[in-house]
Amino acid sequence: MIMAELFEKVSVNGMTLANRFVRSATWEGLASREGSVTPKLTKMMVELAGNEIGLIISGYTFVSPEGQSSPGQLAIHDDRFVAGLWAMVEAVHKAGGKIALQIVHAGRFADCALTGLQPIGPSAVAKDGQTTCRAMSKADIANIISAFTQAAVRAKRAGFDAIQLHAAHGFLLSQFLSPAFNQRTDEYGGTLENRARFLLEVVRSIREATGPAYPLLIKLNSEDFLEGGLTRDEAVQVAVMLEVASVDAIEFSGGTVASPEKFMPVRPGKPKTPQDEVFYREAAQLYQAKVGIPLMLVGGIRSYETANDLIRRGVADYISLGRPLICEPGLVKRWHNGDHRESDCASCNSCFAPAGDGRGVYCVTMEKKRGKAGG
Ligand SMILES: Cc1cc2nc3c(=O)[nH]c(=O)nc-3n(C[C@H](O)[C@H](O)[C@H](O)COP(=O)(O)O)c2cc1C
Repeated sequence: MIMAELFEKVSVNGMTLANRFVRSATWEGLASREGSVTPKLTKMMVELAGNEIGLIISGYTFVSPEGQSSPGQLAIHDDRFVAGLWAMVEAVHKAGGKIALQIVHAGRFADCALTGLQPIGPSAVAKDGQTTCRAMSKADIANIISAFTQAAVRAKRAGFDAIQLHAAHGFLLSQFLSPAFNQRTDEYGGTLENRARFLLEVVRSIREATGPAYPLLIKLNSEDFLEGGLTRDEAVQVAVMLEVASVDAIEFSGGTVASPEKFMPVRPGKPKTPQDEVFYREAAQLYQAKVGIPLMLVGGIRSYETANDLIRRGVADYISLGRPLICEPGLVKRWHNGDHRESDCASCNSCFAPAGDGRGVYCVTMEKKRGKAGG
């Protein structure tokens, strides 16, 4: 058996990547008020592209006006966004990078202060008894399938090398999968097959519209870490359904915005042991035993040794990094050049504040350190 290597050329449905590193989708907070690309955002993407990251995944990009959840978030719900996205993709390609667009609808976690619209979701009443959104009708479901499909077609027109559907972290597609949010009694709720129906309809519709040769990736929760939420076994069963539906690769994440802090997708605090370093190791092993399409694994990976071990043992096919690349955009290049010191990322989540206040995402802790070092 030939052992996989971190730094080898790989291909996903015809998309050739320089290595097995992925920049996991990261909301940068740098889009314009309406969601267009800005020069600052392009600059950040070009910097990543010049740093040998196999695949860059954009920040989550909303497919419908009521589906926005953050300021400075990219939008793709209208043709007018395509030209700006096209220019950004061109710049990334010129710098030698590959880029996928992550598309999302926030569902009940949309921010009505930003959208001015009532959030929608699978059910009006969540398990905690809060009424936070309007339950989607069959017509709403059809409209959102169409919104995701049109977004994917626009992404293809803008030149993105792939799209990634955001079906993790408790946003709309993840809400349908999760009994903690989905209490429907029609064919979109109840059994796992029913809860997965909406996601699979979105996948089929996108596949039909973009064609068999366009790489389609999905970010999926390996577990919700929420009372009554999606379990690990169920997540793997959904992955099998997605494989059958011709998805090209799955990125496993976990937790939702409503999960306890220590199980949120961005778990706080530096992992203490190599075991803690990989948030979803057991889920990944279960996945590899049951699913045939490549697995991108995100969450907590901080050291070269761990990344290498995950690839060599076949626990993951791609190493996906979020906060380490905010902390040090050149981390992958540094590792490739033989400096294998681990990431300095302390998982302190200080990067969220500047993303939210218009400055754009960056590592506040590193900047402070540099400031001190420089006097
Ligand atoms: C500032 C920030 C923004 C994020 N934005 C997104 C996003 O737009 N879409 C997404 O799927 N995950 C998003 N994430 C989660 C990351 O992609 C990743 O799953 C998470 O940070 C865990 O990986 P890590 O331990 O390598 O950081 C974000 C994380 C951070 C810190």
